[in-house]
Amino acid sequence: MESRSRFAWFLGCTCLAAAAAGCSDALNAGPLQYVEAEALTKDLGTKTNLYGKPNLQKKVRQALVQLFGPNPQEIHVPDGSGLSGDGIYLANYLQEGEGPAARRHPIFQGTGPSDFNRTRQAGGYAIYRRNCLHCHGVSGAGDGPTAAFLYPTPRDYRKGIFKFTSTPTGARPHRDDLRRTITYGLHGTSMPAFESLLTEAEIEQVIEYVMFLSMRGETELALIEEAAISDENDPNALSDDIVREAANGIFTKWKLAQTQVVNPPIARTPPTRESILRGRDLFLQSDCKDCHGLLAKGDGESFVKQDVFNEVVFGGNPSERQARVDQLDEKTRTLWNQKPDDWGNPLRPANLNRGIYKGGRRPLDIYWRVAKGINGAQMPAHYPSPFDEKKMWDVVNFVLALPYEPNLLKDAPVPPSTPAPGTPVAIQAVTSGL
Ligand code: HEC
Ligand code: HEC
Repeated sequence: MESRSRFAWFLGCTCLAAAAAGCSDALNAGPLQYVEAEALTKDLGTKTNLYGKPNLQKKVRQALVQLFGPNPQEIHVPDGSGLSGDGIYLANYLQEGEGPAARRHPIFQGTGPSDFNRTRQAGGYAIYRRNCLHCHGVSGAGDGPTAAFLYPTPRDYRKGIFKFTSTPTGARPHRDDLRRTITYGLHGTSMPAFESLLTEAEIEQVIEYVMFLSMRGETELALIEEAAISDENDPNALSDDIVREAANGIFTKWKLAQTQVVNPPIARTPPTRESILRGRDLFLQSDCKDCHGLLAKGDGESFVKQDVFNEVVFGGNPSERQARVDQLDEKTRTLWNQKPDDWGNPLRPANLNRGIYKGGRRPLDIYWRVAKGINGAQMPAHYPSPFDEKKMWDVVNFVLALPYEPNLLKDAPVPPSTPAPGTPVAIQAVTSGL
């Protein structure tokens, strides 16, 4: 108990510099520096950027340092971030005071000073650095050293967009969503399951750090946007108030998401034959087939053909991908250019026959994907329109049945996309070449 109250006292008198993630420490040796957003210094043409505006660039950098600290070794947790314990789980050390008078205190796990089993706590940053950084990068930009060799690419957290969420379309993820992703991984991708590598407490800590990086990255982008409409020589550009407002807007989105989990309004319809077949018809009548294809192999007409995709993405050095795109015929190239994900990476609809779901295989997981769509991945929401609450479960039942019944779609008469009332039309499914 004694150590707990001292804990609170350190936090209480440190305010801004609540979490110091550890300097030259065995838990994370060697300093690392955040990588800046491209838009801060690079000429990105028509895209927002601060190229050639050194004063505004400097202001963005200063604002970020003030809010989040200068580097990952020295983390500041801004007021109102909503992170647990004001960010205490990010830290290996707590810092008391600021400047030359600052004192750092290691954080221990265990019960008290006399407990010989107590161990130094590795904060969220240290855990991230060891387990995640080589893919997700120092700033969470999805640009770690391993990233270039992976498809799909590791998530860039800085947009605040996460795919596998339980919150409304476009909203920030719930903490539970991040916990599921980190604990169980994303099946079919290189995102590992950390269930057996990290303790539950460590997973909680790294969740905080992912949120921290996401908030920091989103703030950076928001400040660049804000600066881009300011005058390079205006001394009041990016004033403290404007900076604070930008950061608060982002913190609010995260806090709101923690209260917004989408629950299906009715219980799941049992997966009867009737329900599965109704779901199959809905799949074929709605937009699902345009992306996922008539046989749900992930080869719908809205996307380039699978062999073209494979050639561009896997047919050589990843850094020469653009050259391979340039060689496509004009029609295919146009289609290709319409279909990146929100991070600008190549995107492919799932093959729903494989029964591999990145975001989890519970009926509720599939419900969330179909009802709310997949953020950043072009898959749109389908509830409340075009599907009502009953149709939603029929489609979920169909999706879950398909991998076990390969003929479900092959044998399907294709209903017209806009059924005329009372006129049953049966068009043969495209089964050639199978
Ligand atoms: C080997 C590379 C690799 C490692 C290591 C890795 N990830 Fe990932 N991670 C990925 C990839 C790839 C994706 C994106 C998959 C996709 O978009 O389909 C991803 C996505 C994510 C997402 C986004 C989920 C969503 O809903 O959009 C989170 C959060 C995440 N990773 C957290 C972590 C954390 C925390 C660690 C360390 C404990 C970690 N990752 C380690 C490759 C990795
Ligand atoms: C505009 C294109 C588009 C439409 C329309 C669309 N999807 Fe998707 N869907 C995708 C893409 C792209 C992915 C892969 C996203 C990823 O892996 O990041 C996907 C993934 C999925 C997944 C896998 C989720 C996971 O956890 O891996 C399911 C299930 C799914 N879609 C079902 C459906 C159903 C059912 C419909 C119709 C109600 C539908 N989709 C409509 C593009 C679409």
